[in-house]
Amino acid sequence: MVIKKRRIGVLTGGGDCAGLNAAIKWVVKTALDIQSQKERGIQYEVLGIRDGWKGLSFTDDNREEYITPLDENIVRTWDRYGGTNLGTSRYNPYNPQINTSKRVINNIGNLGLDALIAIGGDDTLSVAAKLSGEGVNVIGIPKTIDKDLVGTDYSLGFETAVEVITDIVDKLRTTAGSHRRIFVVETMGRSAGWLALKGGESSGAYVILIPEYDFSVERLNELILEGRKGGIRYDIILVAEGAKPSGGKIVCKDETIDSFGHETLGGIGEYLSSEINRCLGLESRSVILGHIQRGGTPCAYDRRMGRYFGIAAVNMLIRKEFGKMVSYKDGQFTAVPIVDVIGRLNLVDTNTMYDTIRYNGSRSILAEKAKEKVNVRRS
Ligand code: F6P
Repeated sequence: MVIKKRRIGVLTGGGDCAGLNAAIKWVVKTALDIQSQKERGIQYEVLGIRDGWKGLSFTDDNREEYITPLDENIVRTWDRYGGTNLGTSRYNPYNPQINTSKRVINNIGNLGLDALIAIGGDDTLSVAAKLSGEGVNVIGIPKTIDKDLVGTDYSLGFETAVEVITDIVDKLRTTAGSHRRIFVVETMGRSAGWLALKGGESSGAYVILIPEYDFSVERLNELILEGRKGGIRYDIILVAEGAKPSGGKIVCKDETIDSFGHETLGGIGEYLSSEINRCLGLESRSVILGHIQRGGTPCAYDRRMGRYFGIAAVNMLIRKEFGKMVSYKDGQFTAVPIVDVIGRLNLVDTNTMYDTIRYNGSRSILAEKAKEKVNVRRS
């Protein structure tokens, strides 16, 4: 039997998170597996591309910096570690200000890549979709701690981030209780409230504020006073960075806009903390969890999902299912067209998952409710 040789590339783009290294490891292990190579009649070689799409914009002078061959020995222990050992960036080859997409396509050709596996969220996948439209064989693997990707029930990094939130809230409780203080804890998540909601449910937060439901500061204060009357000594309030009071604006850290056009969110926690202090005269502190949510050791679920997504991506490669993203939907692994995923948002359904009176997770789990999917276009 003639064994054909094929070379593929793998990269991670956008914000780092736990589970990326597991996905890379299992792309490499599955592609290089000797037994499978005999069955497929294809011998794969895997090149790691450093720093996301930036790594494919290399010039003759810096190619070595960005391209690194990967084998099973190199990736053996990677699934145990957070972040991405390939590095990442928010580099956009289709940035209207400096469009390097032609160089990226030429470099893919010069490297002799038969296909590219891109692990990322909406931004990374939007580049993958454009390249696919220009004839590049691309396969996507979903990752984002924000859990805002449509087309899949899971994206890498989310569960580890929820673990981090839970762990930190546990730690804050002792100091909050000792001082009878209110702690306003700000989570990431951009326009989606998943991190705040699931982190808040896991850690037992008293109030959870999410971007999908504009809150009233008066109602929040009322809830705090009700709790105090009921004997609560301290409060944990989780607020998503994209949440805002009704009639108010989303708070941004500064005016910076990244190459995909996103603002840098942050500051709602501090605003709320001072409002509570001003209105109620209760001692309040704010904590921004920030990038800590992207750190730490990957939880068991992210290691397993990274493994399954990595294997599924190579399965798709063999079946030539290009232009698609691995998806985990209703308990099954499947593939969905990347163009159907990008530019849309998977948001918390406040009809079924959120208690708009208590500002917390829904107290109704089995009740019959219209299960409307909240998928909206990204702005
Ligand atoms: O999309 C993931 C995310 O962590 C968001 O939750 C957050 O708003 C953003 O990235 C932060 O981006 P950066 O790492 O560029 O500061």
